[in-house]
Amino acid sequence: MMCERGKGKAEVLGIFLICFGSFWSLALYGGGKEDMELKEAFRRDFYIGAAVSPGTMASDDGIIRREFSGLTPENIMKPGPIHPREDRYDFGDADRFVAYARENGLLVHGHTLVWHNQTGAWLFRDGSGLASAELLDQRLREHITTVVSRYKGRIAYWDVVNEAISDGSGLYRADSPWFEIMGSDYIGKAFRYAHEADPEARLYYNDYNAVDPGKRERIYRMASDLLEQGVPLHGIGIQGHWSLEWPPVEDIEAAIDRYASLGLEVQITELDVSVYEFAQKDALYTEPTEELMKRQARRYGELYALFARKGDVLAGVTTWGIGDDHTWLDNFPVKNRKNWPLLFDEEGEPKPAYYAALGGAKERK
Ligand code: GLA
Repeated sequence: MMCERGKGKAEVLGIFLICFGSFWSLALYGGGKEDMELKEAFRRDFYIGAAVSPGTMASDDGIIRREFSGLTPENIMKPGPIHPREDRYDFGDADRFVAYARENGLLVHGHTLVWHNQTGAWLFRDGSGLASAELLDQRLREHITTVVSRYKGRIAYWDVVNEAISDGSGLYRADSPWFEIMGSDYIGKAFRYAHEADPEARLYYNDYNAVDPGKRERIYRMASDLLEQGVPLHGIGIQGHWSLEWPPVEDIEAAIDRYASLGLEVQITELDVSVYEFAQKDALYTEPTEELMKRQARRYGELYALFARKGDVLAGVTTWGIGDDHTWLDNFPVKNRKNWPLLFDEEGEPKPAYYAALGGAKERK
């Protein structure tokens, strides 16, 4: 914006207001109009993603095209919805999603090929008993080959295995039918099958609590074992279901560094900032107060400032949703507890958190 001289009074006032406004947007966000979009502000660091459902893909179309450079399907590519029976795949929603992303020049982060949740029970059964390891391995290969080949060249990143590491004792999650039947073999095999089906796709292991120091070391150990075995693992997804105070930013930084030390890419794959501590049941808010939204903005500011500093190893930062009108946290882990964890409000307007996230771009090295 050029601030011109030699004009009439009204024009001078108008120009003053425009210049003053520009000064403020420069002072607050460190840039001009282009920086008002997240994807532009972080373009040289990482892609800016959002998880979408078929509903939010339509209702938030304008925000998606303005602000984001990547999309993750919230549910429609999970094994249950996409492969409900052994002899049946439902690709309709996923096909429309991938086509929408392509039309709008958005990267796709596929989610997820192997998980113990949202997976048809049929996969683990054989008649009235449990499937054998051999049968489950055949099904693993068939599922991955079919889904990954269908979108070959159109899905940049795949969450190949989701949440396979234990939260406590032992290395692997034991309460998973994958582990019960195949031991830990299913993990490396899943990556190999995905790589065979699309050698160009970047393949991720994705988990929650991935910055907790104990779990971080377990994930690190699994990842280094896989790499030693020559498994095509390319990145670690840190889900990022966090809150106003937790986890400490130092733990997030240490986890990013630790995974990157293996030569892996890292992504923040499912970011949201709950206004509650995890299972808090009292002192619930009835609305997103100004004070609360300011606290949340400070938190988002420190997170995106860290992400910008880590731009050399972070490949993407994805929020688990777009606006506060659609968030899984309204019902998890407490049913009917309204939450406001995202960057846009229930009407799709940018929140203080959004501007604070944008401001983080100034912190890059
Ligand atoms: C996990 C999964 C996601 C999603 C969220 C909650 O983090 O990886 O697919 O189900 O839980 O919505």
